[in-house]
Amino acid sequence: MRSAGAAAERQVTIGVTLPRCIRLIRPTPTMTQDELKQAVARAAIEYVPAGAVIGVGTGSTANFFIDELGAAKGLIRGAVASSEATAARLRRHGIAVVDLNEVSELPVYVDGADEIDAGMSMIKGGGGALTREKIVAAVARKFVCIADASKRVDTLGRFPLPVEVIPMARGHVERELRAMGCDPRLRGRFVTDNGNQILDIHGLRIEQPAELEARLNNIVGVVTNGLFARRGADVALIGGPDGVTTLQRPQ
Ligand code: 5RP
Repeated sequence: MRSAGAAAERQVTIGVTLPRCIRLIRPTPTMTQDELKQAVARAAIEYVPAGAVIGVGTGSTANFFIDELGAAKGLIRGAVASSEATAARLRRHGIAVVDLNEVSELPVYVDGADEIDAGMSMIKGGGGALTREKIVAAVARKFVCIADASKRVDTLGRFPLPVEVIPMARGHVERELRAMGCDPRLRGRFVTDNGNQILDIHGLRIEQPAELEARLNNIVGVVTNGLFARRGADVALIGGPDGVTTLQRPQ
């Protein structure tokens, strides 16, 4: 694995309506996508309070973060996992997996995203863990999104939007979505950790993510959808050819 090299930090401000760009670190133009994911995962460790119980997301970028937690032996007291896969990986690193009902608050939740826009709204759930991710994120004071630069978009929707549905309601939810002009497609034989199915909505251009998030959640039979707009990211660590860029939710 190539070394990330020395950190070169500089201040960049990109406007008041966009997230504030705090700094760029580790300029390494030839990094692979996995190296970018590892770089943001490593950068996220800075947001982890020593001795805390934190929330941990799901996916390949979150896996790099779990590996960083494992390497930082004893840094945290434990973690609430957003999926069975994450729980298993945490345990393999000897990190205690804590039941969310045992804690009333988490200082931070670290997770990847399928898309993130300038308002720090995200599409998540490519790995099918959207419901537990949204639950753990809801309990966290700070959401730190870690992603490579391919996930940054101007408008959400090119990535199919996952909707978790109770299996007996699938037909009803599909009809409701079609009536809204959506193109829902069943995600094969996939079953979520909650025993449900996923409809992926293709071909969206989401101008008002918070409104769509609420509207989809109002359909009877929908457990949740992969729009994280009402509770978006507070911090985004984006790995690109210029290094890791830190974006902050506008105040
Ligand atoms: C899983 C998720 C992931 O965070 C999202 O799919 C990004 O995954 P990756 O880091 O593998 O690109 O929401 O449900």
